Formats: sequence, C-alpha cells, structure tokens
Amino acid sequence: MQLHQSSVAELQQWESELAREYAAHQAANLNLDLTRGKPSAEQLSLSDALDGILGGNFKDEDGNDVRNYGTLEGIVSARRLFAQFMQVQPDEIIVAGNSSLTLMYQTQEFAMYQGLPECEAWSKQGGPVKFLAPVPGYDRHFGVSQHLGIELVPVAMNDNGPDMDQVEALVAADPMIKGIWCVPRFSNPTGIVYSDSVVERLARLPKIAGKGFRIFWDNAYAYHILDEDAPELADIFALAKQFGTADNIYMFGSTSKITFAGAGVAFLAATPANLKEFLKHVGWSQINPDKVNQLRHVRFLKNMDGVRALMKQHAALLKPRFDAVLQQLSGLNNLGMASWTEPRGGYFISVDVLPGLAKQIVKMAADAGVKLTPAGATWPAGNDPQDRNIRLAPSVPTVPEIVKATEVFVTCVKLASVRQELAKRS
Ligand SMILES: Cc1ncc(COP(=O)(O)O)c(C=O)c1O
Repeated sequence: MQLHQSSVAELQQWESELAREYAAHQAANLNLDLTRGKPSAEQLSLSDALDGILGGNFKDEDGNDVRNYGTLEGIVSARRLFAQFMQVQPDEIIVAGNSSLTLMYQTQEFAMYQGLPECEAWSKQGGPVKFLAPVPGYDRHFGVSQHLGIELVPVAMNDNGPDMDQVEALVAADPMIKGIWCVPRFSNPTGIVYSDSVVERLARLPKIAGKGFRIFWDNAYAYHILDEDAPELADIFALAKQFGTADNIYMFGSTSKITFAGAGVAFLAATPANLKEFLKHVGWSQINPDKVNQLRHVRFLKNMDGVRALMKQHAALLKPRFDAVLQQLSGLNNLGMASWTEPRGGYFISVDVLPGLAKQIVKMAADAGVKLTPAGATWPAGNDPQDRNIRLAPSVPTVPEIVKATEVFVTCVKLASVRQELAKRS
C-alpha cells in the first residue's frame, strides 16, 4: 500500500495494526544497538596474532631499534607498506600513531593557526575560515572543523560524490573556503564511491580556490569491500600531479578497521613539502609515534596481499550483516516512506525517511530498545535541516540481533509515516 494513495480509513486501520506491532516490540524488552561503526569482537579477533608477534625481535629492517626514541616520520618498513596501501611513494607518506582522525585534527589545526609551506595560516588571511562539508557526512570530521573555529558549508552528496557544480561555484566565489572533507570510497554514511569524473574535478579544484586550499581525502574505507566487483576509486594524487595541484591534497588512512580499532596504525600521505611542514609542527609535541606497534603491523600484515586477505575475512563477517539490514528494509519498498543506500563496501547504510521524521523515529526505536545514531549526526552541528537522514551501522550486533533491530526500525518508520500522513489529512 502506497502511503499517499491510501484513504484515511485505510491509514487509520494501518495505524492501529502498526501501533499493536510497535507495542509488541516494546514489550519484548530489547536491548539492541546499531549506533557506531566499529568492528565486532569477531573482527578484532582476526588480528589477535599481533599480540606477541615481535617475540623479542625489536629491530626494523634497517637496524632501527623500535623501542627507543626517534624516527618521527615512522619506520622504514611501515612507510613502504602503507605507501603501497595509499598508492604513493615511501617519501610521500608518514606513519604515525593509532588514529587518522588525530592526523586530520593536527593538519587542520596547523593550517589554521601555524601556516602552510606556501602561505600564512588560514586564520591570518582575514575573514572567517570555511570548509565544505558534503552531507550526509561523518560527524567527527565536522566536529574537528567546528572545534577549530572553522565554519562548515554543507554541499549535497550525490550518488557519485559531492555535487561538483555546487562545490566549484562556492570555491570560485569565496577564497576563504579552505578545503573540503571527502570520504571517497564507501563514504560515511552513504557508502557511495566517488566517480572518476568527480575525482578529476576535485583534483582540479585548487586551481580555482584561494590560498592554502586543501582536500582532506580520508580514505578510511579504501579496502573495506563487501562485493568483489565494488567500484574502484580513481587516483586523485596522480591526477593532481598532472594538474599541478598535488600540494593541495592530504590523504589519510589507518588500520583502525583492519586490525585493532583503538590500537592500529594511521598514516598521512602528501607531497614531501607538506610532510616536512607537518613534521616541523608535530615535532613540538612528540618525539616519535609508537614504532613498536608499527613493526607489529608490518610483521602481521606483511604486504598488500596480506591486507587484502585479511579484508576478505572481514567481508565474510560483515556481508551477512549488511544483507540482513537490506532484507528487512525491503519491507519498506514501494511505500513512499523511505529510501536507502545499498553500499558495496564500508560500514554504513544511510536511510532517508520522510522530512521531519528522523528524530521521532530514532526516539521511537530507542523507546522500543533499539539504539540508533542520533538523527542529525550526519550534518554539521547535528542539525539536519530536513530532519530526514538516519545512519545504520550493522557491524557489531549478530545477524539475528540485526534482523530484530531492523524489524523494529521498519515498524517505527511505517508508524511515524502513517501518523504524519493522517495528521496532514485531518
Ligand atoms: C570516515 C572515517 N574516518 C576516520 C575514522 C576514524 O579513524 P581512526 O580510527 O583512524 O582515527 C572513522 C571512524 O569511524 C571514519 O568513519
């Protein structure tokens, strides 16, 4: 039954059936959680061999004793491995501590307050500093900018990446727009992969931007494939080298969702000039990153074949969970109440419900024992102007738990939509 085509009598009957269904869910005293995108314990266990892997051998291949101070840029073997991972040269990457978000925070903070190789700090260029935020997007990206006093300008996220007509028009018109947040492969939360044309236009973007423009290329899910034939991502750095914009790109990655989420290894890839500037600033707060953990990762992952083999094991655990969500969401097919993404990789499914209902649906689900990411979290300052986007993160619960949680979610979407429609008709 299509929501808008139903008569008031049909809607009333539907509402009472759904209200009974919802009450039954509430009576079941559920305690389920689809909130944060983190690996399950089973996924983490895939990397348990990291523990003790060094067996007392603390020397890197160049004889560097990783237990001691020094080597701020990361150990040689880790830079070589993660250079392949990020498709750059070893002198175009530094390997750091456990969090790529920390690297994003630091690069943005240094650019904002300290300066860049080619120009003075953004904050000293006169006028409020702005950053483009494709929405829906990753709440913690938005949090970094906001915490540093950077104003976020939302731009629409399409099925092939950010709306580039909008992005180019904004950047060309305002030199105080200093960058854009990007999760280019299996974007958080929509799961889309930026198309070749979007990547090429992004690589050219600095040519029309103000001084010190930076593309924050957070490739957090680069290898997080659910389907073998998932779309590939074009190489922005190679394109930027062709267009003379390589200095405008910062690329980030980590093993947070490959090995241990809280104890992985993170990296920043950029031109040597940018890396030198970054190390100059970071060197005031740190003598070196945790090189012991870097060496553990090199010994454990070995090479890119090792990374890919591990990611296949992750996919085997994740795929049935995503399928379970999608199977339940299909109960909303053709009702005119919601649309959602069917990602080929990554950690999330993004659902758009009818305008004005996201917060209410999240609350209804919580009242029935199903925790969801707060509505609005995918927008700057947690404010989704249409109140319609909800992010589902199915990696942690078991498949039966996901089936139950999504069943409750679907009931909430239907009930809230039917009630909204009835209110409109009254
Ligand atoms: C897009 C994106 N970037 C970065 C992170 C966090 O990465 P890290 O653990 O390396 O700080 C996440 C975590 O959910 C993420 O979704």
